[in-house]
Amino acid sequence: MLRSVMRGHTRTGAPGQSETEAEPLPFRVLFVCLGNICRSPAAEILFRAAVQKAGWEHRFRADSCGTASYHIGSRPDSRMLAALKRAGYSYDGHRARQFCRADFARFDLIIPQDESNRRDILSLARTPEEAARVQPMHRWFPSTSDLQEVPDPYYGGESGFDFVVELLAVSTRRLLQELAV
Ligand code: 4NP
Repeated sequence: MLRSVMRGHTRTGAPGQSETEAEPLPFRVLFVCLGNICRSPAAEILFRAAVQKAGWEHRFRADSCGTASYHIGSRPDSRMLAALKRAGYSYDGHRARQFCRADFARFDLIIPQDESNRRDILSLARTPEEAARVQPMHRWFPSTSDLQEVPDPYYGGESGFDFVVELLAVSTRRLLQELAV
């Protein structure tokens, strides 16, 4: 499925460029959770860190958003920022926003963090091509994990945030490896 999403990734560069000189535009990944203050901003920064480490900033772009409107305009949850910091990552500048239909055109791959996010996004898809861009995060969980979703840490303690950061660090690296081939 991801291969067909990648094959459909035919956008090229500036108008006026010939076929031969046109560089493919960056592949755009959107991570989605409920509030866009815990899981999806963490996935965004961890994916971006993996992209940066590989020197592939010209090949990939990442963003995140939420299916709900509760936290529009908010910074990521301070507990998630603290967990990211404990793992060696800093994150600045993000403000929560809500998923909208236009995101199907703006992104090549849309990755819901849990099943409820996936259903909410799919309810807005208008074509099979849009639906095919939606792939659950658990596809890239380590093979040792039997989880089907990124657990929501919002109502739990510090260890839940650390667990999500660890899970997403591995999973976003696996995602990048698959996209990069
Ligand atoms: P997120 O976590 O979807 O990972 O950002 C949550 C954030 C807020 C709420 C629930 C989950 N909330 O109920 O406000």
